[in-house]
Amino acid sequence: MTRSLLPACGIDFGTSNSTAAIHDGERARLLPLEDGKATLPSAIFFNLDEDSHSFGRAALGEYLEGYEGRLMRSMKSLLGSSLMDSGTEVAGRYLSFRELLGRFIGEVKSRAEQQAQQSFSQVVLGRPVRFVDDDDAADAQAERTLGEIAVTCGFRDISFQFEPLAAAHDYEQDIAREELVLVIDIGGGTSDFSLVRLSPERRGKADRSSDLLAHGGVHIGGTDFDRQLSLAAVMPEMGLGAQLKDGKPFPSSVFFQLATWHTIHLAYTRKSWSDLQGMARDIADVRRYDRLARVVQQQRAHEIAIAVEGAKIALSEHASTHVELDALEDNFTLEIARDTLDIAVAAEIERVCAAAHATLKLGGVQPDRIDTLFFTGGASAMPALRRALAAAFPLARTVEGDAYGSVGSGLAVTARQRYGN
Ligand SMILES: Nc1ncnc2c1ncn2[C@@H]1O[C@H](COP(=O)(O)OP(=O)(O)OP(=O)(O)O)[C@@H](O)[C@H]1O
Ligand SMILES: [Mg+2]
Repeated sequence: MTRSLLPACGIDFGTSNSTAAIHDGERARLLPLEDGKATLPSAIFFNLDEDSHSFGRAALGEYLEGYEGRLMRSMKSLLGSSLMDSGTEVAGRYLSFRELLGRFIGEVKSRAEQQAQQSFSQVVLGRPVRFVDDDDAADAQAERTLGEIAVTCGFRDISFQFEPLAAAHDYEQDIAREELVLVIDIGGGTSDFSLVRLSPERRGKADRSSDLLAHGGVHIGGTDFDRQLSLAAVMPEMGLGAQLKDGKPFPSSVFFQLATWHTIHLAYTRKSWSDLQGMARDIADVRRYDRLARVVQQQRAHEIAIAVEGAKIALSEHASTHVELDALEDNFTLEIARDTLDIAVAAEIERVCAAAHATLKLGGVQPDRIDTLFFTGGASAMPALRRALAAAFPLARTVEGDAYGSVGSGLAVTARQRYGN
């Protein structure tokens, strides 16, 4: 085996999890980024008690242990949003979101370098097919911003690859015969599709353009399923849908902020807090209002988001689940049924399936021509989604990729192709 000395790696900066991989001339290899695991959850915790910050599982752990501080998660969702050029206050200091993403990606780079025992100046970064739905200029801007951030992290050669196409390259490493494949990558932030012809013979070819039939994607992923479940099951317990004394509805914007991973910080501003306090005398349902005030004042919305995400994952296996929500009230628990989740995410799943069909249409291929559905991404485990896609492609066989590693490995395959000779 030829040990690669290429200063090139692939980085999958994911909404929920990130990976880094290299190619040694034989195969792609994911690099362990935390505790021997290939994934680093895309999270930073600024610990104010200890005046430090941490990444990944350690960040989530410190936050849940109750340290005073600020958790940032789902940072990739800021790319392409109007929030990207702003920032947030952490420990009395303004932190721009560019700097925030730079700190995280820089950490992935340095951990990868430590593991590979070499430095990387070249990188293939994964990108969703759509950072932004229906707005090409904003979508291109999101990619540019990510590239600029990679420069600040010390990369000199930066290129991009569609995440589902990277996953296709990973799958093709082990393929035995020609297949027409629809790659389905359902992640935390986006659902991405690549319609590709793969075969052992084509794998080494430099020009694959005739094998890439179509790409498609939509900005819907696991974090949207979390939001919908939170809005359906948890936020009503804090006053969403309640009426004020005068019969008017309780303003809903704060609930949307609290239920959406990357906008939680907006509910913690001084203005939000004073708006909320200003409403106290108009409140009819004091108990629910008190829960909302507690969550905002004690900055505990990530606890709710983590509990809701856990419930969503449990509902992939069980018909109902129990969620503990001390953030709302001591010893407060909720029972959530899978039906509640299925109803809450039905419209999102329909849009994901529509994006899959649009990809086929773009490639001029009928659903019954697809040999293989290649699934990757953590949220591809959702039963409702599986049912919908199985019904749409009844003749295709299903292959499970590495839910968290296929994209990263495939980016290393691309890095080898682009920078290897
Ligand atoms: N068993 C499961 N059932 C449902 N959802 C799950 C399951 N396991 C993980 N998820 C969800 O998968 C998502 C994370 O998947 P993944 O790590 O592939 O995303 P990502 O690559 O970080 O995001 P993206 O590619 O969209 O930027 C999270 O929303 C997580 O809650
Ligand atoms: Mg992903």
